[in-house]
Amino acid sequence: MEQRAKKQKLDSTVIKEGEAEILVDDVNVFYNPVQEFNRDLSAAVLATYIKNRNEELARANALEEEEKGITLLEALSATGLRSIRYAKEVQGIKEIVANDISAKAVESIKKNIKHNRVENIVRASHEDAQLLMYQRRRDKFNTIDLDPYGCPTIFLDGAVQCVTDGGMLMITATDMAVLAGNSPETCYLKYGAISLRSKACHELALRILLQNIASHAGRYGRYIVPILSLSADFYIRVFVQVFSSQIKCKENATKIGTIYQCTGCESINTRSLCYKNLSGVYKLTPLPYVNQYCDICHHKQHEGGPIWLGPLHDQRFVSCLLCNLGVMKLGTSKRIEGVLNVIHEELDVPLYYTLDRLMSIIRCVTPPMLKFRSALLNAGYRVSYSHACKTSIKTNAPNNIIWDIVRTWEKANPIKRDKLSNDSPAIKILDAPITTNVSFTVHPLANPVSRQNKLTRFQQNPATNWGPGTRSRIRIDLENSKKIKNQNKNSTNQNKSPIND
Ligand SMILES: C[S@@+](CC[C@H](N)C(=O)[O-])C[C@H]1O[C@@H](n2cnc3c(N)ncnc32)[C@H](O)[C@@H]1O
Ligand SMILES: [Zn+2]
Repeated sequence: MEQRAKKQKLDSTVIKEGEAEILVDDVNVFYNPVQEFNRDLSAAVLATYIKNRNEELARANALEEEEKGITLLEALSATGLRSIRYAKEVQGIKEIVANDISAKAVESIKKNIKHNRVENIVRASHEDAQLLMYQRRRDKFNTIDLDPYGCPTIFLDGAVQCVTDGGMLMITATDMAVLAGNSPETCYLKYGAISLRSKACHELALRILLQNIASHAGRYGRYIVPILSLSADFYIRVFVQVFSSQIKCKENATKIGTIYQCTGCESINTRSLCYKNLSGVYKLTPLPYVNQYCDICHHKQHEGGPIWLGPLHDQRFVSCLLCNLGVMKLGTSKRIEGVLNVIHEELDVPLYYTLDRLMSIIRCVTPPMLKFRSALLNAGYRVSYSHACKTSIKTNAPNNIIWDIVRTWEKANPIKRDKLSNDSPAIKILDAPITTNVSFTVHPLANPVSRQNKLTRFQQNPATNWGPGTRSRIRIDLENSKKIKNQNKNSTNQNKSPIND
């Protein structure tokens, strides 16, 4: 009886997100309210991509193409929500195929297409996404959205072949434990790369996924240009353009490489597989690239990768995206604006350290972020945050400079050395002489504009017991969905981070 009442409640459930209304009458179809941010951002990226494309077509006098609009495949669609939102909220789409392998999901997609009156744009499809993408290698899509449970790599071989030249892939991965170094051997199986446990794990995850997309594309004479790469909540999402050029895709060898992380002080070094000499000839990067024992603390190194070492974002695209945000009505727009501003300030330098971890390695109190950033700037280097972590330090300063700053801070805030062994990373680091003139005087550029403007820069988990959801677990969490939907509303409180960011 109680179960029937529960079912009836679900039978009549309508979920509103953006301009779409989704009828949820089957508990076996996947809907995750926490992913609203992901869908909002994707709609904004898609709108900007189309706007930029139309401007390019207009410049090339290809007005007919521009008027026709683009095609989009949502290969793993579940309720059809994403496709319906794209159809209703983004101008310039000619056709969307909303596909799912599950018959129940396709039933739900069909109902939702009708309910939202988007039959003129969205078409339901019941097919294995891999098969569908192979079938469409001749009749390609301009854009493809892949939003699977967990790892997306089984879909990439098809996706890189059925997207047009200059087309865009939008890809989610939610298997963060695998990507973040919890089981490097599984990461190798799934992504062809060894992940490491690192404080920079979220960016490392992005770089592992991008490497995998680039290597799939390379097999077909295609190369990728990441336009936006984002780590959020429990997932990562990348937006990449795919182009055809046998010559350009050879550059993968210079944009992909290995990462070395010291097992003691966690210092990071990266090495591209090849480099191009002045005559444009590809040369192997000579080894050894790092010493067997770390220069900083004399502990052993771990090697991970291969990872993508090229840019994570196209900053011109990010600027356009920020400009276009104002014209879109998005539930999570404050959060999007905050994250994009931090991304816009990000340095194009692979990976980052975190201030708290640098200091905990030498067991010392943590300086204010402003002072540490100032020390890097005062020494003549650049520094930024990574959007992926609110205590992150992304810098072009060599490792020894970073440790000199740590050493200088310790001189003014001495640690208790009696309990530390002489072989510990802390003692090895602190016993080395300081060779940099370090000043903690506040530098005018140390406080980034996104922070001065009190934007919602780093999001906290909006609810307990949240996550990506799995095939077997249904995520129609309506009780919590209001709380979750409020994820961007308390922006001023969220700016008051307990950790000094
Ligand atoms: C995470 S859900 C998609 C959520 C949806 N994109 C959204 O934003 O609400 C993953 C979907 O992929 C579907 N799926 C899994 N394997 C598939 C395959 N090989 N081909 C097509 N669909 C598949 C599942 O049935 C499920 O509905
Ligand atoms: Zn070390």
